[in-house]
Amino acid sequence: MSLKSWKLLESNFQKNAQKKITDYFSEDADRVKKLSLQWESFYVDYSKNLLDQETLDLLVAVAEESGLNLAIKAYFEGKKINETEDRAVLHTALRQLKPSSIMVDGEDITPKIEEVKKQMYDFADRVISGNWKGHTGKAIKHVVNIGIGGSDLGPAMVTEALEFYSNQLRLTFISNVEGDHVEELIKKIDPETTLFIIVSKSFTTQETISNANTIRKWFLNYSPSSAIRQHFVAVSNNLEKVTEFGIAAKNIFPINDWVGGRFSLWSSAGLSICLSIGPKNYEDLLLGSGKMDEHFRTADFKENMPVILAMITVWYNNFWEVETEAIIPYSQYLRNLPAYLQQAIMESNGKGVDQNGKPVDYQTGNIIWGASGTNAQHAFFQLMHQGTKMIPADFIGFAKPLHQGNDHHDKLVSNFFAQTQALMQGKNAETVREELTQQGKSPQEIEVLLPFKVFEGNRPTNTLFIEQLTPANLGSLIALYEHRIFVQGIIWNIYSYDQWGVELGKQLANNILQDFDKKQIDHHDPSTQGLIEFYKRFRN
Ligand code: F6P
Repeated sequence: MSLKSWKLLESNFQKNAQKKITDYFSEDADRVKKLSLQWESFYVDYSKNLLDQETLDLLVAVAEESGLNLAIKAYFEGKKINETEDRAVLHTALRQLKPSSIMVDGEDITPKIEEVKKQMYDFADRVISGNWKGHTGKAIKHVVNIGIGGSDLGPAMVTEALEFYSNQLRLTFISNVEGDHVEELIKKIDPETTLFIIVSKSFTTQETISNANTIRKWFLNYSPSSAIRQHFVAVSNNLEKVTEFGIAAKNIFPINDWVGGRFSLWSSAGLSICLSIGPKNYEDLLLGSGKMDEHFRTADFKENMPVILAMITVWYNNFWEVETEAIIPYSQYLRNLPAYLQQAIMESNGKGVDQNGKPVDYQTGNIIWGASGTNAQHAFFQLMHQGTKMIPADFIGFAKPLHQGNDHHDKLVSNFFAQTQALMQGKNAETVREELTQQGKSPQEIEVLLPFKVFEGNRPTNTLFIEQLTPANLGSLIALYEHRIFVQGIIWNIYSYDQWGVELGKQLANNILQDFDKKQIDHHDPSTQGLIEFYKRFRN
């Protein structure tokens, strides 16, 4: 990178590469105060990182020098920043705190947004209250969301995360093209009381359309075709295909092409969320995200949560050459947040060509993984504490539990704090020696055991500590990650909002599918040919 501030960061990195996080704390008694942010009910502590104030100032300078200010303006104003698809990126328009006009192709999109929201809320009210009846006159009990990628992961994650706020409706998500997934679902549902939402912006996605077709076929074994109207609704941008499928026009919830799939839970793709928690809670989710949008748009970069956290990722990714980043929510409700963020982050920033179409000569999108604490502690934390790789991690937790009256929360929170402390401080040989001596081990035994019990520490983390898991706070949290993605895309000068990388596999799968019935398959590479031949032996 040729930015002046980038070069200065390189020197800062060289100068401090040997320093430990604990050294930074010894040098500055005010470190936590300086390297933490409080905003609404969020407390973000980024002091347990391998950087100092000078590093942060330089990271902010990189953001400024990269033109982040103008880029944010273009993003919120609806400029076509998804250039390779010639689209605006306007999930933020769906959650404006004070809806004001935003022009796309000469049209103000805000009135239509409000209209679709009303359509969603009216529909949700009718289903939740039991006024919307199935074809035999029974109320809906079960809602099945049929979608994949952004049309599944966001709605599924949020529905699960906000289970505490859910009503009597049972929600199920079906995504995989694997027939066993849909067959298992069919065993458990009642055609008289189930509502199916087909969520597909394109309405051409193989997985979604296959599942929808199989379910419709099954449904018609028990119900007349006129019943489709009461049991199938769609969220799509492809009205023609939805109508062909047999869904009534009034049961189509439109979604615009300026909403990217992985950012679509705020749109009609969030219908399943709205059904599960009701319009009021869904509005709160939007409100929380809208507040984070305002913070991101207006706060000085030095106090801007998405900017600071994005730049810390850049620091590890590009200077420390770290490849992965873990996300550990200390909340069972958020167990699928890492999977959701995997798509959001990796589909966005997993790009190897810059905005000029030239291969980048620096690292871009990092690998995201994780699981909920404390479960993760008993799974992969061994590697995080004593393995050979540095894995910066976000620890996310809540100060107030949703259920009162038991003693679990103190235990959860103590684990939440202890892990970042342990990752930073480690345990030195002296302490291990003392402990083993106290346990009555002989000096010989101690020398044998000692190397295995030492923790080198110095492993960086951010702590995102939030008052409580509410719809609004979840909205803010998701929006925080969305804007981190945006900032990183600007710094790496890549297009974050297309996903051409998923196309090749889809194309080849279609070719291979056709070849299962053909004799001549030697146009494939020998390995694939061998696999097809093996498969054909078992295919009925
Ligand atoms: O995985 C590729 C992708 O295009 C995602 O971006 C999108 O969320 C998903 O497929 C589903 O697409 P659709 O909503 O059009 O079915």
